Amino acid sequence: MVTSAMFRAAAMAMVLALSFSACQAQLSSTFYAETCPNALSTIRTSIRSAIARERRMAASLIRLHFHDCFVQGCDASILLDNSPSITSEKFVIQNNNSVRGFEVIDQAKSAVENVCPGVVSCADILAVAARDASEYVGGPSWTVRLGRRDSTDASASLASRDLPRFTADLRSLIDLFGNKGLTERDMVALSGSHTIGQAQCVTFRDRIYSNGSDIDAGFASTRRRNCPVTSPDGNGNLAPLDLVTPNSFDNNYFRNLLQRRGLLQSDQVLFSGGSTDSIVNEYSRNPSTFSSDFASAMVKMGDIEPLTGSAGIIRRICSRVN
Ligand code: HEM
Ligand SMILES: *[C@@H]1O[C@H](CO)[C@@H](O)[C@H](O)[C@H]1NC(C)=O
Ligand SMILES: *[C@@H]1O[C@H](CO)[C@@H](O)[C@H](O)[C@H]1NC(C)=O
Repeated sequence: MVTSAMFRAAAMAMVLALSFSACQAQLSSTFYAETCPNALSTIRTSIRSAIARERRMAASLIRLHFHDCFVQGCDASILLDNSPSITSEKFVIQNNNSVRGFEVIDQAKSAVENVCPGVVSCADILAVAARDASEYVGGPSWTVRLGRRDSTDASASLASRDLPRFTADLRSLIDLFGNKGLTERDMVALSGSHTIGQAQCVTFRDRIYSNGSDIDAGFASTRRRNCPVTSPDGNGNLAPLDLVTPNSFDNNYFRNLLQRRGLLQSDQVLFSGGSTDSIVNEYSRNPSTFSSDFASAMVKMGDIEPLTGSAGIIRRICSRVN
């Protein structure tokens, strides 16, 4: 016979099981509160000192988190090196000789391993580093949701498929972001990261020599000075993505687009007569709207397909599986 005590115990077990799996299935800002209370401050110190050494690192770290999240979710797959069982994502066309900041993440990881070994994932360190970087260079801050675990594999083919290219048109950008659950508004806000950082001549040469009407002639001519017309001459020469204030996080990126001074084709397509023009316009006039939309979109991007619970691992060294 089923007693009411037995029934209550079973019901209680069910509630516990449900709430436990709910905790595992989603990220939480207090994930390390018990297991590594100093995780966030340790990461922050490490990231801040790296950006103090080289200001561009703020941009590079934000981009690293983006390129992680868009490839099989925010699972630190981008950090894995080639090995007999892994084809690294680092060498696909969108990443090769371009994504950077790996040594900064490694330093933050080893600082965290010193205080709580085996607890904090590389994927979470990437997410926290991106937030700390934005904050450091005058951009918005936000509460980072935590509890991502690290992958045991990487996918160069998904990286090649899912990371946007500078030649992309608006339709394909909308689709790429849409496939990750991000709206046009999220995409425009996130592209506002190009308010900081640099791009190589090879990524904007065609645009500055196109003589087209979607680029400001004076801007094109300025950029040609350090980007020779014939590849591979000067392919790696750098230019700021935001010509006005390349070292601080503000809304000048959008103001540039209104003047047809986007550096990449994928920048200018956001303001070229299509459905995102109105959003660019709005952000160019309203820095605080941009700021709060950027913060929300970063949280949303950080939520893309995380490994949680018992999925994945906590890597001890970010560049290889344990
Ligand atoms: C919309 C599609 C996007 C395309 C096609 C794109 C493409 C690029 C390219 C080609 C560069 C220059 C890389 C180089 O020359 O080495 C770059 C730099 C950068 N991207 Fe994007 N990007 C996009 C969206 C984003 C998003 C969503 C973020 C972040 C949330 C982001 C953050 C950055 C940052 C911060 C830099 C400068 C990196 C540095 O200086 O190291 N980008 N991007
Ligand atoms: C990556 O860039 C290097 C040059 O630094 C080049 O030798 C290599 O072939 C590139 N890899 C791929 C897969 O394109
Ligand atoms: C664009 O104009 C520049 C300078 O006037 C010229 O050197 C270049 O060949 C032109 N490019 C094209 C694609 O027409």
